[in-house]
Amino acid sequence: MQNIVIQAPAVAQRRTTREWQAADAAHYLHPFTDFKSLAAKGSRIITKAENIYLWDSEGHKILDAMSGLWCVNVGYGRQELINAATKQLQELPFYNSFFQTATPPAIELAELLAQVTPPQFKHVFFSGSGSEGNDTVVRMVRRYWDVLGQPERTVIISRKNAYHGSTMAGASLGGMSGMHAQGGLPIPGIAHIEQPFWFELGQGQSRDDFGLKAAGWLEAKILEIGADKVAAFIGEPIQGAGGVIVPPATYWPEVQRICDKYGILLVSDEVICGFGRTGQWFGCETFGSKPDLMTFAKGVTSGYIPLGGVMVGERIAKVLIEQGGEFNHGYTYSGHPVACAVALANIRVIQREKLVEKVRDDFGPYLASHFAELAKHPLVGEVQSCGLMAAVQLVKDKATGQTFDPALEVGMVCRGHCFGNGLIMRAVGDRMIIAPPLVITREQIDEMVALIRKCLDLTLADATRHGWV
Ligand SMILES: Cc1ncc(COP(=O)(O)O)c(C=O)c1O
Repeated sequence: MQNIVIQAPAVAQRRTTREWQAADAAHYLHPFTDFKSLAAKGSRIITKAENIYLWDSEGHKILDAMSGLWCVNVGYGRQELINAATKQLQELPFYNSFFQTATPPAIELAELLAQVTPPQFKHVFFSGSGSEGNDTVVRMVRRYWDVLGQPERTVIISRKNAYHGSTMAGASLGGMSGMHAQGGLPIPGIAHIEQPFWFELGQGQSRDDFGLKAAGWLEAKILEIGADKVAAFIGEPIQGAGGVIVPPATYWPEVQRICDKYGILLVSDEVICGFGRTGQWFGCETFGSKPDLMTFAKGVTSGYIPLGGVMVGERIAKVLIEQGGEFNHGYTYSGHPVACAVALANIRVIQREKLVEKVRDDFGPYLASHFAELAKHPLVGEVQSCGLMAAVQLVKDKATGQTFDPALEVGMVCRGHCFGNGLIMRAVGDRMIIAPPLVITREQIDEMVALIRKCLDLTLADATRHGWV
């Protein structure tokens, strides 16, 4: 196969790196950042991108194995998406959907989403992001039970180490202790159960047995709260920000069975898993659940412009439409015409280039075979992958699976080597994770895995030198 060399697009450098860093430190508070330590160190300034590569202000080329932030599914520099935005900006840059109005891109996108999502979905509620989408979920499930005359059904069950965004509701649904520690979270009416993380909680049992056990924690929590008080269960098909935790195959079908048994709504947060990431259009299709609501964002526009939303299953849509009256909820940018135009172009690229099928049949299995090799590395305790998401768990002792003292921050050491060697790979504790663009080629997977291996070797050398292994 021909090896295509991706060139950096020409971009005029308006300031030097130091000038950018000084202005950044002086004015810009970054998300999820220790402001003081970043200001002392200086940000890395990313100035351009093409295909699966980024370039920083120093001209370094970086393979972006995280697709921006799990979102650039069709890769950078896609002219069709740029043209769609430009055309829509010229025709109608904005109009809202509040006042009994709609715009053609929003209507067309709603129609197309009803086609590419599982058959129970015919309706969509748009938001500007995944977090906002999950705020809509909280409002909508509670409204649903209210309309049905069961207003006491308000509790939403989620999982520890889940990530559902950073608004008050999103962070509350999420199970990140660091987020709950700031700002008085979670809000009332949210309960958390343990996650289906075999490596941490299930060793000594078969993965399948552990999957059933982990789903059983949901049933136990429902019984503890009282089924008549539980509105919904929410989960990511694969926990992304929690460390690409791929649940055992038994987990989601059992969760579905339990939700059905108690009549509880099932919400699949597809913000990362949606739009092809797992080798199906949506993660719930990979794992065998039939959710009532699905949150999406990121891959719907490949991150070119913000857009999110909630797919609303017929069970809920019917009640809200026929009996609900006015739903007192919405956002200025619900159904933003430019975002919807970009999403339409993006989904058409995914369809035309058969990216979902390629992830399922080619790139996903190819990546998995490479990761199976990485599992032999002395620093690696387990690897997991599904479609184009994968994790490498770093361990102190390969034979026993003993993990490092978290204070050593071995994952951050590894991430530093990745940055230094032209690779963006994220560290979640000592779990190194990737989610590259769906347009990655086999040659580029080879290139990415060679870089990962090099960074594992460098991390092992550091750990050996410091006496950590
Ligand atoms: C599963 C999941 N849900 C929700 C969100 C929040 O999305 P946003 O950052 O667009 O608000 C994220 C973001 O990473 C996510 O991974």
